[in-house]
Amino acid sequence: MILIDGKKAAAELRAELKEEVAELKSKHNKVPGLTVILIGDLTPSQIYVRNKEKSANEVGLKSEVIKYPDSVEEKTVLEKIQELNSDETVSGILVQLPLPKHIDKQKVIEAIVPSKDVDGFHPMNVGNLSSGYESSIPCTPLGCYLLIKKIEPNLSGKKAVVVGRSNLNGKPMTQLLLKENCTVTITHSKTKDLKAECLEADIIVAAVGIPELVRGDWVKKDAIVIDVGINKTDNGIVGDVHFDEVSKNAKALTPVPGGVGPMTIACLLKNTIECFKRSQL
Ligand code: GUN
Repeated sequence: MILIDGKKAAAELRAELKEEVAELKSKHNKVPGLTVILIGDLTPSQIYVRNKEKSANEVGLKSEVIKYPDSVEEKTVLEKIQELNSDETVSGILVQLPLPKHIDKQKVIEAIVPSKDVDGFHPMNVGNLSSGYESSIPCTPLGCYLLIKKIEPNLSGKKAVVVGRSNLNGKPMTQLLLKENCTVTITHSKTKDLKAECLEADIIVAAVGIPELVRGDWVKKDAIVIDVGINKTDNGIVGDVHFDEVSKNAKALTPVPGGVGPMTIACLLKNTIECFKRSQL
């Protein structure tokens, strides 16, 4: 079984991006900039944002974090986004989710100009991805996709099962696999026989948020299994895949932690650089 080392893959991607940033700097005399807006003091969000800032600095991006208290008015955030939209030194804007209840998430997502939407959450980017046009691609599915391609460069005709249908993961993951000519089945909590669906798969991407849902006898021999889950349990952090059982069947499997997670942040940096390059055309 291949243990997919997301930490190593992310470090390799960051090294490539660092070189690219240096080249862009000498060509344009400026570097791509990422601005993250963090609202409130949720600990996981604070940790994510700190990691994003650290990684951005490591590859040589200009990075800025704007913090607001939980009580900030929606209007203040929307006005800041407008300001960042027209700031030439800002290539990418990310508003860390989740948001406090009084702030309308969709309004915030749609306020970001699509060309700076490094999350790929704006309806324009969602539509472009599903139509096969150039777009920002959500960071987590993009990271999963790059890990899958490392194991199996030719995905044409493969059967892929995506467990979970979220806008963040399941749906964009499906689009990426479709683009690679996979036959994709999207499954979710209402799927009748999840085990039977998974048993058909050459590739399984589990992004449903249920601890250790995918068991050893759900996985065909030599399938590639990508675990997007991060679930807090009494036994610590576990994924959506039962690691010990599935590792006996799968050809390749991502661990949690150390699989998809590190790739997500590296892909955010990649998206920031892509936004910068498109803005320089
Ligand atoms: N919170 C958890 N994951 C994400 C993400 O990918 N983007 C944003 N903006 N917030 C998140």
